[in-house]
Amino acid sequence: MALIDAALERRNGMEDAEGGLLAGLEGRDRGFARALALATLRWLGPIDRVLAVRLRKAPPTSVTKLLRLGAAQMLALDTPAHAAVSTTLALAAEDRDARMLVKLINAVLRGIDRERPSPGPADFAPDWLMARWRASYGEAAEALAARIAEEPATDLSLRDPHGGDALAEAVEGLVLPGPTVRTSRRGDLSIWPGFEAGDWWVQDAAAAIPARLLNVQPGETALDLCAAPGGKTLQLAAAGARVTALDRSATRLVRVRENLARIRLEAELIAADAASWADPRIFDAVLLDAPCSSTGTFRRHPDVLWTCKPTDIAALAATQSKLLDAAVGKVKPGGRLVYCVCSLEQEEGEGQIAAFLSRHPEMRLDPMTPGEGGAPEAALRKDGTLRMLPSQTPPAGGLDGFFIARFRRNG
Ligand SMILES: C[S@@+](CC[C@H](N)C(=O)[O-])C[C@H]1O[C@@H](n2cnc3c(N)ncnc32)[C@H](O)[C@@H]1O
Repeated sequence: MALIDAALERRNGMEDAEGGLLAGLEGRDRGFARALALATLRWLGPIDRVLAVRLRKAPPTSVTKLLRLGAAQMLALDTPAHAAVSTTLALAAEDRDARMLVKLINAVLRGIDRERPSPGPADFAPDWLMARWRASYGEAAEALAARIAEEPATDLSLRDPHGGDALAEAVEGLVLPGPTVRTSRRGDLSIWPGFEAGDWWVQDAAAAIPARLLNVQPGETALDLCAAPGGKTLQLAAAGARVTALDRSATRLVRVRENLARIRLEAELIAADAASWADPRIFDAVLLDAPCSSTGTFRRHPDVLWTCKPTDIAALAATQSKLLDAAVGKVKPGGRLVYCVCSLEQEEGEGQIAAFLSRHPEMRLDPMTPGEGGAPEAALRKDGTLRMLPSQTPPAGGLDGFFIARFRRNG
């Protein structure tokens, strides 16, 4: 329950709290706690809708939380109703408010079991986001929302891109363009083949595309402006670039350092605000994976749907414009800049481009070619930027939502 609280209280809450909260649990219990928290978050829309119908007035918060957990077990994890109800009632006995309302908890959960709601895709997203997606993507919005309930496969990026077939065989996966290796394996990654040797790292197939589009060559200089936890830094370093990785968060940079050490790669790490980093160097290739609403990552982080607020979008878009302006100053004449966001909201992606180009006549759009960087052809827009949607296939199973644009500085 604490994991769900952390996830819903703040951005990255689950990621930040996970280590501490699950540390005391044995492997299997840890796996179950994580799976239940994620299932509850994936099904939060339908669960809260069904609870709103069954409860005349809002119960104490702890009771709502218990009801969510009980309902998630039945609806998302197919736990038999008697088991879901009895574990929920056992937890209720430990809570002062819930103890007084065990009859209500029992009745609501039994009612949900009898009724077995069959939610539509739109029920899984908050209404305001669904309205936005319909306005931006029309009919595709339903297909997009249909992905929310699905548990995604695990995607791996490789230190040596020639090792795709061998890794796919070792993890019973398949090789996607890029290459990325996709596997449905679950469980403790640290015992998978190649983990110890640092042959791969976890990175969604869509998240691996932006760094490839910089086409860095061995010996070139590359700047990763918002680098942590470091997936794209690793790609740039693996391609042989001399990488400077910057992030505002010194805490998050620790993850970059750990990841570099495991994969046996090197980069210069700098804790600084990319908007005001006063360093005179200019680079062949600059990557700006800007902070964003992250709505495109709902497959792995369903909490983003509930922590993101309508007012966040405009504020984030303003920050992204500022960071884009700062990024331009770091690009060598003739050098490349890739801008990306893991957001489905157009103000953070498509909406940035025209204004950026009018502010920076020294930069021009450098269109992507079909399939470049492993991107699905369906993602290529007329202007040569990319819009990836979780519902796009191939690849089977989809990929995270991303917007990507590439610019070149006039020589
Ligand atoms: C989308 S994440 C980056 C993910 C990373 N590129 C990767 O592939 O693993 C955004 C990062 O931007 C950092 N950030 C946010 N605002 C920043 C700023 N003004 N300057 C530098 N880093 C910033 C955050 O700390 C966060 O780590």
